[in-house]
Amino acid sequence: MRKKIVAGNWKMNTSVSKGAQLASEIVNKSKEVEGVTLIVAPPFTHLTKVSEQLKGSQVALSAQNCAAEASGAYTGEVAALMIADAGASYCILGHSERREYYGEVDATLNKKLVQCFANNLIPIFCVGEKLDERESNRHFEVVKAQLQNTVFNLGEEEFGKVIIAYEPVWAIGTGKTATPEQAQEIHAFIRETLALKFGAKAEETSILYGGSCNPANAKSLFLNKDVDGGLIGGASLKADDFIAIAKSF
Ligand code: PGA
Repeated sequence: MRKKIVAGNWKMNTSVSKGAQLASEIVNKSKEVEGVTLIVAPPFTHLTKVSEQLKGSQVALSAQNCAAEASGAYTGEVAALMIADAGASYCILGHSERREYYGEVDATLNKKLVQCFANNLIPIFCVGEKLDERESNRHFEVVKAQLQNTVFNLGEEEFGKVIIAYEPVWAIGTGKTATPEQAQEIHAFIRETLALKFGAKAEETSILYGGSCNPANAKSLFLNKDVDGGLIGGASLKADDFIAIAKSF
């Protein structure tokens, strides 16, 4: 069954103590939410502490990234094994900020996918076009190539677990959201593209929208049949807003 999911990408925000406080507020308010998988993705330094905060709740833990290698001499990197051991069960991969600022390419992402599955982390795999690509009407081909070069390499069982997040780069942190029509159009296209490789299994895949999603626009986005939830940045840093978004289905 396709799941409804709302995930909060905290990015490089909050101190450890503020993050723990935010997690505990989210846990308290999460009791108002039914039938939605809630996930928070704090920075690496917060994982262990937030994991304790989330115990016994319906809120799951994600990292924002993982290393492409399993272990060893990779100064500054954090392995999927460590993330899982810290209590996370999900990991965001291929966020546009990672692609843009840290040079993450498809080959790196393929290695990270392998690491996630080897350590039982469910990837929240991000795709999305830049503004000039949308304006030149190349968004379909860009997103298709991003999927073909990465997610298409998964086995069927792995594919059955992966979550896709469509995040148009021009909508991230800009206050400029995709219209519900734009979101539905490309989410349906993503599902069709996935079906080329994985057939009917693509019907079960949760495809999240990300990019300036907030309590005011979440409902109109989530109403669409191929939008299964959201990956939320800015609005996930306030428990009230995050929960209001989760209640928008
Ligand atoms: P935003 O970020 O909600 O602040 O636009 C979304 C994301 O980058 O995941």
